[in-house]
Amino acid sequence: MSEYKRITVAPISGTIGAEISDVDLKDLDKETIAEIRRAFLENTVVFFRDQELTTPEYISFASQFGPFGVEPYVKTMDEYPEVIAVLKEASEVKTINFGGQWHSDWSFQQCPPLATILRGIDIPPYGGDTLFANMTLAYETLSDGMKQIIEPLIAIHSARRPYGTGKSLLGDTDKKAMTIIRSEDAHEEIEHPLVRTHPETGEKSLYVNPVYTIRLKGMSEGDSREILQKLFKHSLQEAFTCRFRWHNKSIAMWDNRCAMHFALNDYDGFRRELHRITIAGEIPFGPAMPKEERDRLQSV
Ligand code: SIN
Repeated sequence: MSEYKRITVAPISGTIGAEISDVDLKDLDKETIAEIRRAFLENTVVFFRDQELTTPEYISFASQFGPFGVEPYVKTMDEYPEVIAVLKEASEVKTINFGGQWHSDWSFQQCPPLATILRGIDIPPYGGDTLFANMTLAYETLSDGMKQIIEPLIAIHSARRPYGTGKSLLGDTDKKAMTIIRSEDAHEEIEHPLVRTHPETGEKSLYVNPVYTIRLKGMSEGDSREILQKLFKHSLQEAFTCRFRWHNKSIAMWDNRCAMHFALNDYDGFRRELHRITIAGEIPFGPAMPKEERDRLQSV
């Protein structure tokens, strides 16, 4: 790991997450962006504090990491179609919050976002932290036998649990400050390798999550549940996680290819608003995939 010349990077836990300081996100040259990108790859999630940005400046910062992702099922901001306002009003008590279960963003898409960037706008005086889990470490700490069993497996992802037409994981979506768009489209199923190879670092991670991974290919939901629950329990050991305390003007940027995250809902009676942008990703590929198929996916 070489040193950073343009930024200061301080890990916030032994396994995932680092705070980046001595940087003004309004004013970045190519070398500084490259160092931020390196810190992001090395730490899976990076955090910035006290960034005085307007929304257009925030969008411009995000645009330096790639084209924006596609935002389905949630109405984006009227003026800024690339931004979702993640919002729970003080009056929304005893409700389920957006992002309040462990997940990787939009993993049901054929090309799920490589990164998500989130900015604190109106943060409660306490609570509303976000937790992150290192899915590369989760993979690496499995036994060799378990790795061999799971490497060829394909997981089926779908948006139907939160955004489908049946009962929603998000509870009563009509009563939320956020506009949730439920649809038949959310029942579509997409296949991704259970073990994913990171296209930039080459590392392998578990690419499954409790919200969008509905079963394993060739197995019933019941049979899949046993394996998936075991993998989730293993992945969510405290030692593989970090927890971020938000303030207004804080920014987090995480790698959806090798992390899950979870928004805590422990601030009833207070308003919480953050602005979220995703960066478009690639079709996930895994180590069990023939090389020609992997090359084909990478060139899409
Ligand atoms: C999300 O899941 O993208 C939102 C996370 C948060 O609100 O902390």
